[in-house]
Amino acid sequence: MNKSGVRHAPPRAGAMVEALRGLGYSTATALADIIDNSIAARASIVDLRFVWAGKFSHVEIQDNGDGMSAAQLDCAMRLGEKNPLHQRSENDLGRFGLGLKTASFSQCRRLTVATLGTDGLQCLRWDLDVLAAGEGDGWHLLEGADGSSAAIVDSFGGHGVRGTLVLWEVLDRVVTDSFREQDYLDLIDRVDNHLAMVFHRFLEGTRPRLTLKINGKRVLPWDPFLSGQPAKPWHSPAASAPGMPGVEVECHVLPHKDRLTPKEYEAAQGPDGWTAQQGFYVYRNQRLLVAGSWLGLGQGRGWTKDEAHKLARIRLDIPNSADAEWKIDIRKSTARPPVEVRAWLVRLAEETRIRARRAFAHRGQAPRTRNGEEVVQAWQSEKFIGGVRYRIDPDHPAVRAVLDEANALLPQVKAMLRVLEETVPVQRIWLDTAENHETPRTSFAGEAPDEVTSVLNVMYRNMVVRKGMSPVLARSRLLVTEPFQNYPELVAALPDSPTEKDQAK
Ligand SMILES: Nc1ncnc2c1ncn2[C@@H]1O[C@H](COP(=O)(O)OP(=O)(O)OP(=O)(O)O)[C@@H](O)[C@H]1O
Ligand SMILES: [Mg+2]
Repeated sequence: MNKSGVRHAPPRAGAMVEALRGLGYSTATALADIIDNSIAARASIVDLRFVWAGKFSHVEIQDNGDGMSAAQLDCAMRLGEKNPLHQRSENDLGRFGLGLKTASFSQCRRLTVATLGTDGLQCLRWDLDVLAAGEGDGWHLLEGADGSSAAIVDSFGGHGVRGTLVLWEVLDRVVTDSFREQDYLDLIDRVDNHLAMVFHRFLEGTRPRLTLKINGKRVLPWDPFLSGQPAKPWHSPAASAPGMPGVEVECHVLPHKDRLTPKEYEAAQGPDGWTAQQGFYVYRNQRLLVAGSWLGLGQGRGWTKDEAHKLARIRLDIPNSADAEWKIDIRKSTARPPVEVRAWLVRLAEETRIRARRAFAHRGQAPRTRNGEEVVQAWQSEKFIGGVRYRIDPDHPAVRAVLDEANALLPQVKAMLRVLEETVPVQRIWLDTAENHETPRTSFAGEAPDEVTSVLNVMYRNMVVRKGMSPVLARSRLLVTEPFQNYPELVAALPDSPTEKDQAK
């Protein structure tokens, strides 16, 4: 102990655990950490029970996993028993040997763990009040449950089924002074939503690997990618990262609001809403770590989350063998891509972002017809060194018709178009989009069919009467002209011989 030059410097237990409480868990993320342990112990059922009793409320998390022997439980309760550098089995969701303790302490002052494994019922407990009052190093691990909760542990042991029970009592970080029963119910809802997302891949399928229950009610999976939804404009096949075994990416663009029912759209947004939930979804051994982030990637500056890219979601799978490279944190809530894969991820994300932006801007309509023909658009965006500018396409039939016949008026018409191009109300559209979470209406959306037909007639008449096109050719041209590609029935209904009275007002 007194070897010269060396001091024994253990942390004081009370102060140490108080400090560890501030790692930044929410109730939901803390519970996810506890459930990780159940999954690693091969549990197929995890039962969460939230019991409301004001200051005496408690939470029970019970699983039917392998359970622990007496020695394993002793080790599980200690901090710093497992070396984060050691290799873990392929399905282990742990890394640091801390989660059970740090997640629990972030929510409660008394943590009791009971387990039924090879040595029969075993139970140990940490009580932060005992640690705070402790002498010396003061790491006093208590045996058995507190008197007030012995019945809960007895009832768990009485079932005789293998598994583990984690009990959180004295929920000082949850049940604060003005916290009421309704707040507890709201909290349960948030936990439900979070777990439905984090463990969705364990909860999916006709025979899911895991059944999660909260107060008896089953947690249903929330799939960020709307797998199987026919209205999705695009998703890529899965691609493996070059030189990084086990790292896989699959890119998705979700359907535009107009392509879903209001209920579907609401359900698809996720716990934090559409804009917040865009980007990469990072899974470690199928368990979600990051639910929507651009991970600091981007061309030049990192991409930020914005309305225009809210339909982009990318699944990124990583194995637990590369935790250090990906800088996994104790809470399992962050991951940073190593340099070797960053360029590859940027490339895939950029493509997804472009497609997502297009789906958003075109209100879910690709600027191609159903037959894949390119649609002539009235506006074109031109990229140049200073940015982007918007130009009216002189070859759009409605514009061409005027230009061709303008004669003496041509300079004035051109001047008018130029003024329109130079005054596109970009700022205004941008603000309106941000405010309404939606691009403004275009393409006659919501207009009566008569309105569309009257404009169609003018163009059709011009093509047939003035340009001498056959009605068949004129109609086929209109079918690939913005915005009439959206109205094939109205185009088909145009008469073979157009008349003067069909002029638009
Ligand atoms: N429900 C459980 N069933 C069986 N064993 C468990 C259970 N919970 C914890 N353990 C054991 O206790 C150990 C410590 O758990 P803890 O969550 O503190 O750390 P970890 O899971 O190893 O790593 P991490 O800090 O990354 O979560 C686990 O490695 C496991 O062996
Ligand atoms: Mg753990």
